[in-house]
Formats: sequence, structure tokens, C-alpha cells
Amino acid sequence: MNNLIASTAIKARQLTEEEIHEIEHEKTHYPYTQAVGLEALKIVQKYQGWVSDESLLAVSEYLDIAPDELEGVATFFNMIFRRPVGKNVILLCDSVACWMLGCDNLKQHISNTLGIDYGETTKDGLFTLIPVPCLGACDKAPVMMVGRETYTNLSTNKIDQIIAHIRDGSPVELDN
Ligand code: FES
Repeated sequence: MNNLIASTAIKARQLTEEEIHEIEHEKTHYPYTQAVGLEALKIVQKYQGWVSDESLLAVSEYLDIAPDELEGVATFFNMIFRRPVGKNVILLCDSVACWMLGCDNLKQHISNTLGIDYGETTKDGLFTLIPVPCLGACDKAPVMMVGRETYTNLSTNKIDQIIAHIRDGSPVELDN
């Protein structure tokens, strides 16, 4: 079990009606309740922004899955955020194809532009930067995701445009 959960008297929070509704819907797709664990964590994250210990315990109790088992699922699946994140999470691929095409330089550029390192969030809460393994678009490396959008063939110029559009709330339209 997560040390924090194990060592303190953290209580499960109440799942919201929306969360329960969506979890129940997911249950219809799986033969065993246990298999719904990951989907339930994703649903909680969609509504709460991240998965707190209280949320993890709530899912654990609701689906009758041991907290440590669920924690294992959350740890294995690196798109489940167990700490608060910014409004926009930049998932920068650092696997082989992206590495060969310069993701380290792009990471440095993002860090310099936003003033954050991997795992950190900007002071205004707008961006969090996280490294992720292959995003499945290696032929268009380097690649990153922000929200549901995947950005390919990245360059520092493209990243500047993406960040600028997100900052001013306008749809991301790239020059190239
Ligand atoms: S290695 Fe980056 S998308 Fe596959």
C-alpha cells in the first residue's frame, strides 16, 4: 500500500454522481469488476484533474479492489497523475525515436520557456511537464501530447506556437 495511505488516517472521499454513473457504464464492458480499476481511475482523473489518496480509496471501496492493487495500476499506467497537475499536462515522449530526433533539446527548450523541470508545474498552474514512453507516432517524432491533442514533428518553433495558443486560449493552429 502507498506509504501515505498506510501511515495516515486518510478517508475515502465520496464519489460524485457523474463518476459513479461513468464507472457503472464501464462495468458493462468488463466481465470482472476488478478489471474496471484503471478506467475508474481515469474517470476520477477526468473530473478531479488528478487521483488523490482520498480518490484512490474511494475507487478501491466502490469496486472492492485492494488499495495497494489499485496503487499498482496507477503506478504502472503513467498517465494517472497521483499528484496535482497543471491545467495543461505536456506529455513529452522520451523514447528512442523521439530521443534520436532531439527530444532532449525540446525538453530543455520547454524547461527554459516555462521555468519548470520534469514533474513540475508552472506557478500560474497552467502547465505541467511529464516525460512519457512512446506515444505510438514514432514515424512523426518528436512527439508530445497536451490534453487529447497529439503534436508531431515537433520543433522549438512549433512548441512556442502551441504554448502561445494555449496561453491565450485560442485553438492551436500551427504554421507548419
Ligand atoms: S518514440 Fe516517441 S512516439 Fe514513439
